[in-house]
This record gives sequence, C-alpha cells and structure tokens, in this order.
Amino acid sequence: MSEVESRAPKRLLITGGAGFIGGNFVHHWVAAHPNDRVVVLDALTYAGNRATIASLIDTQQIEFVHGDIADASLVSSLLASHAIDTVVHFAAESHVDRSIADPAAFIRTNVVGTLTLLSACRQAWQQQGVWREGVRFHHVSTDEVYGTLGPDDAAFTERTPYAPNSPYAASKAGSDHLVRAWIHTYGMPATISNCSNNYGPFHFPEKLIPLMIVNALHGKPLPVYGDGLQVRDWLFVEDHCRAIALMLESALAGETYNVGGRAEHVNIEIVKWVCQLLDTRFAADADLAQRFPDCPAAMGSSCASLITHVTDRPGHDRRYAIDPTKIATTLRFEPTESLPSGLARTVDWYLANEAWWRGVMDGSYRQWMQDQYQMT
Ligand code: NAD
Ligand code: DAU
Repeated sequence: MSEVESRAPKRLLITGGAGFIGGNFVHHWVAAHPNDRVVVLDALTYAGNRATIASLIDTQQIEFVHGDIADASLVSSLLASHAIDTVVHFAAESHVDRSIADPAAFIRTNVVGTLTLLSACRQAWQQQGVWREGVRFHHVSTDEVYGTLGPDDAAFTERTPYAPNSPYAASKAGSDHLVRAWIHTYGMPATISNCSNNYGPFHFPEKLIPLMIVNALHGKPLPVYGDGLQVRDWLFVEDHCRAIALMLESALAGETYNVGGRAEHVNIEIVKWVCQLLDTRFAADADLAQRFPDCPAAMGSSCASLITHVTDRPGHDRRYAIDPTKIATTLRFEPTESLPSGLARTVDWYLANEAWWRGVMDGSYRQWMQDQYQMT
C-alpha cells in the first residue's frame, strides 16, 4: 500500500489561528493557496493576538471568528455555513508554567475543546457511518506527551509510550487519545503530529526565546531555570508549518508523525546565542541604543550579564528529542532553517516588530510576569 496520498483541501477551519504557530500557518497557507477559503476560530486569550493575522483579515483573504472551540453550537454552525472540509486544530492553552499554576483551563480547552471539535466534525461529516469524501481533521500536538529522556536515551518515535509529566502535557496527551479514539472507533479521517519546540516570529514573550529577547532589550534579568542544562529540540516555526501542510496534502488518514528540528541544545546555550546576536546587532546599529537605552548592549556591555539562574520549574522535563525518521522518509520532510540562521531571523524580527510585542504585553501579561519572576 502507498504510504502517501494526494488531496487538495479547499475550505479550512483553523483553530487557534491568532496564536503563534496557528498564525504563522495561516500566513503560510494563504500564500500557497490564495483561492482556498480559510476561516480562523480563536478565543483571543492572552496568547491570541488579532494583529498577527490582521493583514489577512483586513484584506478579506480570511474570515476571522472570535469564539471558543468548546462552544458546540458555534463550531457546528461554522462547519455547516462554510462547508468546511478540513480542520487544522492548533487552539490550546500552551504554556507549561501556566498549567502548573492553573491546570483547569488546560483541561477545558485542550481536552473538552478537542472533544467538542471532534464531535461536531463527526456530526457534520459522517452520515450513516460513511464519512464525506475528502474531509480531514489534523490535530497539532507536542513531543511533551512522551515525557522526559535521559542523556543517552533514544529519541521519541511514534511508538514511544505516552508519559506526560506536566498538567499541560497531560492535557495534550488526553486530546491526542481522543483523536486516536475517533480514528479507531468511528473511522474518522484524522492525522496527528507531535512536534518539538518551535521558535520564530509572533511567539508570545512568555516562552524562552522571545522572553529572553524582550527582557534583554529592557535590561531585565534573563531567568534561566535551575542549571539551564535542560535539552530541547528547536524547530523554526515556518518549517513546522511546511510539515503540517505536507501532512494535510499527502499523509494517509489515521497516521501520526513526530516533527523535529534535528537541533538539540541546552537552554543556557540558546540564551547565550540570543545575547550574542543582540550584542552584535547593537554594535552594528547605533539607533538600537536610542530605542532600547536600558539594554546592556546599548552601554557597550553584553546582554549575557543579565543571565540569572532562578528556581527550577517543578517537575521540569530534562530532555526532549525527536526521531523524525517517519516524516522524513514517507513525506520527504526536512527542516530548511538551521538554528543559527533561524535565531538570527527571530532576533531581527523582534527588533523590527516592536509594535507587535508591545501590543501583546498588556496588563495580564505584566501581572503574570510579576507573579512568575517577582519582577516589576
Ligand atoms: P499559543 O498559546 O501561541 O496559541 C494558542 C491560540 O489558541 C491562541 O491564539 C489562543 O487565543 C487560542 N485559544 C486558546 N484557547 C482557545 C479556545 N478555547 N478556543 C479558541 N481558541 C483558543 O500556542 P502555540 O505555541 O501557537 O501552539 C499551537 C499548538 O501547537 C498547541 O496545540 C500546542 O500544544 C502545539 N505545539 C506547540 C509547540 C510550541 O513550541 N509552541 C510545539 C509543539 C506543539
Ligand atoms: O516541546 C514542545 C513544547 O515546547 C510545546 O508543546 C509547548 O507549547 C511550548 O511552550 C514548549 O514547551 P517548553 O516548556 O519546552 O517551552 P518554554 O519556552 O516554556 O521553555 C523552554 C525551556 O526553557 C524549558 O526547559 C524551560 C526553560 N525556561 C523557560 C522559561 C520561560 C527557562 O529556563 N526560563 C524561562 O523563563
């Protein structure tokens, strides 16, 4: 049997399309498929930002619906009124630290919200046990469902047993299991991807890389959890978007894929790289010192002077690593952005898009940062 199939989605519902990866995916998809119908459903939580996709909304290249994936009647009416044939499901509560502080929101959106979407799609797409031709549900998930690895353990494959450690990971594992059950029990034409850490434009500045950039520009401490020797596998967000597009276009229904960047690094190394990039940019452009006078680089010092080791995250997973063999061999997916070039693009994007990140740093963001790091 062939390991791939060819299909052409035309009418997409993208959940969480005002968030980091969802927003990048919306831009990616519309650029590649300008004639497709794209509807974005997003609740605009603290992590969602209309500005991320405003250029596409304002030019009517996409339709934006402000709403909740757990609202069954809204989801059903969108599936029907837009004759949706493809759902790409990004919407989630996504930050591990917040899941430790408030797990209930993660169960509601990640588990109950996913259940609501699956039930609505089944109702819209299945009649008398037969699924409508050409429909597809893609569930965007995480490598965190597999738990943590020791330094010499083999990387996660699609057959690695689930062992989620944080409330976030447990909620994503729950959502994966629901999708799997809908595939197995009802024959739903769905796929799942479990991806490693993304980075790039439109990343909310509570996550490691954008937080380090924004804090350094303000001359604030760069909080490194514990010894900073935890390992993550980093993937530039546009590469992740390409992988999802490939899965939508070519993956067989029912399949699961691990997606990674072949770029394992310890956190402290990533933070030092970001600091070096900022130091270099300030040395080359005198305007930056005017714009960000509190940054150490504005005073000829290194941003690395701000690195501060803080109390470790409770239950912190030590290492994640993805074995990308399946997606590489069956769908011919390889990341195209190297970590050095992707990090440089990311730092440059934040320097060029100050209005975007200032716009997302509202009162609730400031309160969270203050509670999290006792920073003002
Ligand atoms: P994000 O937090 O930046 O964005 C999430 C989006 O979902 C936001 O726009 C938010 O407003 C929206 N949302 C939240 N609750 C909602 C609800 N109830 N109804 C409708 N919309 C809602 O997250 P992200 O980093 O872009 O992650 C997107 C998906 O990818 C998530 O499912 C996450 O688990 C997964 N993932 C993320 C990474 C990563 O490194 N960021 C890696 C692998 C997988
Ligand atoms: O692995 C995929 C996952 O990657 C996604 O499923 C999550 O949605 C996404 O948030 C991300 O989870 P992490 O917990 O790995 O990402 P985060 O940016 O929060 O942290 C990355 C590493 O950096 C982690 O080891 C914790 C550490 N860290 C994080 C922050 C925010 C710090 O040392 N200091 C910090 O201030």
